[in-house]
Amino acid sequence: MSAHTGPILEGRGATDYERYIRVPELLELVKPADLLAHPEERLFQTTHQAAELWLHHIDYEIGRVDGLIRGDEIGHAAELLDRCTRILILLRQQIVILETMAPADYHVIRTTSLGRGSGQESPGFAKLLDVGKRLWPPFEELLGRRGVSLIEIERAPRIHAELFRLVQAMLDYDEAFLNWRFTHMRLAFRVIGSKVLSLKGVPASQLEMGTREPLFPLLWDTISELTAEWKPTY
Ligand code: HEM
Repeated sequence: MSAHTGPILEGRGATDYERYIRVPELLELVKPADLLAHPEERLFQTTHQAAELWLHHIDYEIGRVDGLIRGDEIGHAAELLDRCTRILILLRQQIVILETMAPADYHVIRTTSLGRGSGQESPGFAKLLDVGKRLWPPFEELLGRRGVSLIEIERAPRIHAELFRLVQAMLDYDEAFLNWRFTHMRLAFRVIGSKVLSLKGVPASQLEMGTREPLFPLLWDTISELTAEWKPTY
């Protein structure tokens, strides 16, 4: 290694890449192969660990979105929400990898490694459930400052282009979150079934309720309101 290519950062690992990313520390968090209850456990743990990192990141971006809405930086807020939506789409795509696991193999992992653990206890997911509560107050204040209502934005999206952009970004985020919940429900039904109890004693079918709980219900109501105003004949 020449003097110009060797690592200059502090930390563990032979290269600056490993030191900056903290690869040794990160990989220490993955259960070693000889301790796995089943060879399929590696995929199960890695999927959850990767999800927690991304959930943690979304929470960080939502904090920024909150500040940007309060500071009237609507375009930037919408951009960051779009980023979060893309991460949710990624999270949805990554959980279905687990559908390649045979249910019988999962039962070995479930009964030996997980204790009473459940995705319900995910701290990252709990924070995401609060996104509606976090973003709605600053959003309402913004509408107040601009003197415009939701239905007015929906009626005239070009006139209220900036606010409409933000509303669309919020709906995209909400939809991506609901889609994640739906896909996760299908994954759970595929691997353990819908007529069983979770390790917490909760019926797995309860997951269905979450697929019907939007984070921003008033945004969805406004779309129905607009449709009603057009007095469709059925
Ligand atoms: C073999 C794969 C999986 C099965 C069989 C499964 C099963 C379940 C079941 C039955 C529940 C509902 C009851 C309870 O909380 O215990 C649940 C909830 C949850 N799981 Fe999973 N899960 C799987 C994979 C994942 C993955 C990869 C994640 C990624 C983070 C995840 C995150 C969650 C979350 C966040 C909840 C709460 C969901 C909500 O309230 O809508 N699960 N899971």
